[in-house]
Amino acid sequence: MASRKRRTNGTPKATGLRQGLATYGDAGFSLFLRKAFIKAGGYSDDALDRPIVGITNTFSDYNPCHGNVPDLIEAVKRGVMLAGALPMVFPTISIHESFSHPTSMFLRNLMSMDTEEMIRAQPMDSVVLIGGCDKTLPAQLMAAASADRPAVVLPVGPMLVGHFKGEVLGACTDCRRLWGQYRAGTFSETDIEQVSERLAPTKGTCMVMGTASTMGCIVETLGMGLPGSGSIPATHSDRLRVAEASGRLAAEMAKKQGPRPSEIMTASAFRNALTVLQAIGGSTNALVHLTAVARRLGVNIELEEFDEIGRKVPVLVDLKPSGDHYMEHFHWAGGNSRLMKEIRTHLDERCLTVSARTLKQVIDSAEMVPNQTVIRTPKNPIKPTGGMAVLRGNLAPRGAVIKHAAASPALMTHTGRAVVFDSLEDLAARGDDPNLDVKEEDILVLRNAGPKGAPGMPEAGSFPIPMKLARAGVKDMIRISDARMSGTAFGTIVLHVAPEAAVGGPLALVKTGDRITLDVPKRVLKLHVDAKELAARRKKWQAPAPHNGSGRGYTGLFHKEVLQADEGVDFGFLGPAKS
Ligand code: FES
Repeated sequence: MASRKRRTNGTPKATGLRQGLATYGDAGFSLFLRKAFIKAGGYSDDALDRPIVGITNTFSDYNPCHGNVPDLIEAVKRGVMLAGALPMVFPTISIHESFSHPTSMFLRNLMSMDTEEMIRAQPMDSVVLIGGCDKTLPAQLMAAASADRPAVVLPVGPMLVGHFKGEVLGACTDCRRLWGQYRAGTFSETDIEQVSERLAPTKGTCMVMGTASTMGCIVETLGMGLPGSGSIPATHSDRLRVAEASGRLAAEMAKKQGPRPSEIMTASAFRNALTVLQAIGGSTNALVHLTAVARRLGVNIELEEFDEIGRKVPVLVDLKPSGDHYMEHFHWAGGNSRLMKEIRTHLDERCLTVSARTLKQVIDSAEMVPNQTVIRTPKNPIKPTGGMAVLRGNLAPRGAVIKHAAASPALMTHTGRAVVFDSLEDLAARGDDPNLDVKEEDILVLRNAGPKGAPGMPEAGSFPIPMKLARAGVKDMIRISDARMSGTAFGTIVLHVAPEAAVGGPLALVKTGDRITLDVPKRVLKLHVDAKELAARRKKWQAPAPHNGSGRGYTGLFHKEVLQADEGVDFGFLGPAKS
């Protein structure tokens, strides 16, 4: 029977229900007890002798992006059973962007630990990880990498677009744009109320090329999900079919005991993912997440390599926030497989995918949709180079990132006066003060908003233009911080400055009135203060007071262990497994 003990290199390997028994000092009793309890669920011996496919349940009333998860679970179960295995659904933490205090990123590592440990602790031969809302797919990929049990990732898929007064709306690029207009007084109270009912009109994840959509494309590129699974709309019947196929595939992987995530997510697969990230004009967050996933497998992502890819690979996808369309249009234009076809010379097509096909085979079967305009060719790109650039300089010795595809071309080379906000609280208190000394050509600096400083490195990097300038019609300014920003945001925003201010990074030493140069073509972020003066300021610098609650529990663990942006904001102790 498939779930009996198998032998690998002479070592007995338990599978199915017999693996990972609870420790009572008597393995026979442990299995007897396990069977006795599971029989309360009405399972037959035939069912319990099958290979087991675990399925994560990340449905939550607090997570409307995952509203279709119950339907997806049913479809996955159908696929598993059609292939002769036993599906077992289990809950894990679910994280929604706007329902997570202080920020969803604070909880990503907790979700990854929860998912990893539940995969390890419970008997399963493979697992289907169903996720989607921003931090969930990264957490699940991190868990899959660390648990290293055969895994198929199934994104929940993007929402359909919304409509308002003849305009197409998308969460959350248009959330920010219209909120900006409301703040500037050009959008009425009634209109903003009505828009709030139409921005997220269906189940599924944000339908612009934000973090969720970006991670959907990355799941496909890494080879951890089936082609199309990153972009089929959440409410389309094709999504249920890809769920069924994912279940079927996971059952086959359970029988074969492979391939394992470490065989799929190789250094070449991560390079492919970084290449697609540049070509789709994807979310800056994905760089942090990929760094964290890769680190779990002992693969080091170098910021310089990412920048170098961006100098060669054009942005080809015409989606908001860098372009004009939405995920459903991307999908019907051929989706990620078609995109990869356009940049295949930059990819390592030998990489394996969960379906046992190579990336080349996936790309060869991409649907060629005639006359589509959403996925461009390298001869007719949206931007001739990639979506993101890595900056260095005395203000960011360990790097910073800018999504120049969504920035103002006029600000790509600019020197201006720093206007500094010491924290998110300081920004909230003074940002809209009509007496704030700030001009359009200044550079806004926000600090103590990084992994330790905020804590959790919130998506605060695209903070609002000061009210008095917004009301005067200023739409964009250079903003620099150690925070992240939503993948759905746009503007000339320098992010992930490392090391962050809270651990004494140079951002902590900037004073209002200092001059700063941003030079994206030269990849420079420079503070015009000489080294002697900076050393004098450093002597006087004091670390911010510890946050409330940082002495205990998960908050305490986070403060103690969280790494910087260039290390993926993972916990130090969650590196690659040694054995
Ligand atoms: Fe869930 Fe945007 S809020 S993906």
